[in-house]
Amino acid sequence: MDPLLPPEIEDYAAAHTDPPGPLYEELAEATRARTDDPQMQVGPVEGALLKMLVQLCGARRVLEIGMFTGYSGLKMAEGLPDGGELITCEIDPHAEAIAREFHRKSPHGKKITVRMGPALETIATLRGPLDLVFIDADKEHYPEYYDAVLPLVRSGGLIVADNTLWSGRVLQPRRKTDLAIVAFNDKVARDDRVEKVLLTVRDGILIARKK
Ligand SMILES: C[S@@+](CC[C@H](N)C(=O)[O-])C[C@H]1O[C@@H](n2cnc3c(N)ncnc32)[C@H](O)[C@@H]1O
Repeated sequence: MDPLLPPEIEDYAAAHTDPPGPLYEELAEATRARTDDPQMQVGPVEGALLKMLVQLCGARRVLEIGMFTGYSGLKMAEGLPDGGELITCEIDPHAEAIAREFHRKSPHGKKITVRMGPALETIATLRGPLDLVFIDADKEHYPEYYDAVLPLVRSGGLIVADNTLWSGRVLQPRRKTDLAIVAFNDKVARDDRVEKVLLTVRDGILIARKK
């Protein structure tokens, strides 16, 4: 992921955001050491934003599509009350093993239910209402994920999608993935069932609030 902002600005934003704490530093380090794509992890600023969104909408039931090694899921679980639940979807058993290791180390891990298998299949088994859905898995499926989860989201609930500026490639889409992100952003922009804002945070975060 090429950063949209100068690294100094990203660092400044991180320095003025609640620090994630030693467990997340350990998780980031384990992800760098033990996976090939550590840049997929959301990082401290987006992690803090996700936790805050969970708190702001008073979420008790959250769905994450794309757990990886668990950073964003754990941050959102932190924002849930006791008894709240985060269901998270993943297909990679290596990432799952690392995530579960860190779920066990966190007091919030007990709020997390991991569902292994293609996310569209998992979503088909779920019932609503969901308070917040975070979409961060394979970009080609973003439009399908949106269609599948919107009926499950309660009125006033949020769909939050990561990487929606795709390092700026939305301006000149060439590859299949670029086109899928553009199709997703256009689809949400046209959808009168939601209010939406595309934030220029990190790699672009689209927030849609169901009316
Ligand atoms: C960008 S990473 C998620 C990063 C994570 N949210 C974090 O902050 O650490 C995307 C993840 O989606 C997973 N994934 C890809 N296709 C998937 C699918 N069809 N169903 C579920 N997970 C999928 C990948 O294995 C990968 O771990």
